[in-house]
Amino acid sequence: MKTLVVYSSRTGNTKKVADAIYEIMPEGSKIAPVADDPIFMDYDFIALGFWVDKGLPDRKAQEYMRKIKGKKVGLFMTLGADSDSEHADICIEHASEMVRSNNNLIGHFICQGKVNPKLIKFFEKLPPDHSHALTPERIALHERASTHPDQEDLRNAQAKFKEILAKIVVSSATGNNS
Ligand SMILES: Cc1cc2nc3c(=O)[nH]c(=O)nc-3n(C[C@H](O)[C@H](O)[C@H](O)COP(=O)(O)O)c2cc1C
Repeated sequence: MKTLVVYSSRTGNTKKVADAIYEIMPEGSKIAPVADDPIFMDYDFIALGFWVDKGLPDRKAQEYMRKIKGKKVGLFMTLGADSDSEHADICIEHASEMVRSNNNLIGHFICQGKVNPKLIKFFEKLPPDHSHALTPERIALHERASTHPDQEDLRNAQAKFKEILAKIVVSSATGNNS
C-alpha cells in the first residue's frame, strides 16, 4: 500500500507528529509538507496533518484537503486546547466534514501543541473583557500545552495510525473497500 504523510506546520508541533507517524508507515511511503503540494493520486492512503487556526484547519491544510478525492484518509491535528476538550471535538469534526465529502475517512488523532510564545505575548496585552484575555484558566492551559507534543503523544500517534493501517488491511482483505 502506497502511503503519503502530508502536513502543515508553522511552529513545528504538527511536523513532530507527522515525523512520528511516518516512522511507522510501510516502506516506500512518502512524507511532505503541504507547501510541496505532493501529488495525492499516486497514493492509496493519505495521513493528513494540520494545526488549528481559529477553530478550523489552517488555510494551507484546508486547500490541500479540498483537493483530495477518492482516497482513504487519516487526519491528525494539533491545537493549543486540551486534546479531550469540546473545542478539540468541534475542530476535528469541521476537518472531518471537509474530508469525508469526497473520501473515506478512516480515523483521526488529536494532539495538544504548545502555542507560539509571540501569540501568548499578544494575548497578555488584551483587555480583561476580551475573549482571549489571559485568565488564570488560560494561563494554566498554555502551561499545560507548553510541553506538547511530548514522547507519549508521539507514541500515541503511532499507535493510532497503526490501528488505522490495520483497519485498511482488513477492509481490503474482506473486499469492503469503500
Ligand atoms: C493564529 C493562530 C490561531 C490559533 N487558533 C487556535 C484555536 O482556535 N484553537 C486552539 O486550540 N489552538 C489554536 N492555536 C494554537 C495552534 O493550533 C497550536 O499551537 C498548534 O499546535 C500549532 O501547530 P504548529 O506548531 O504545527 O504550527 C492557534 C495558533 C495560532 C498561531
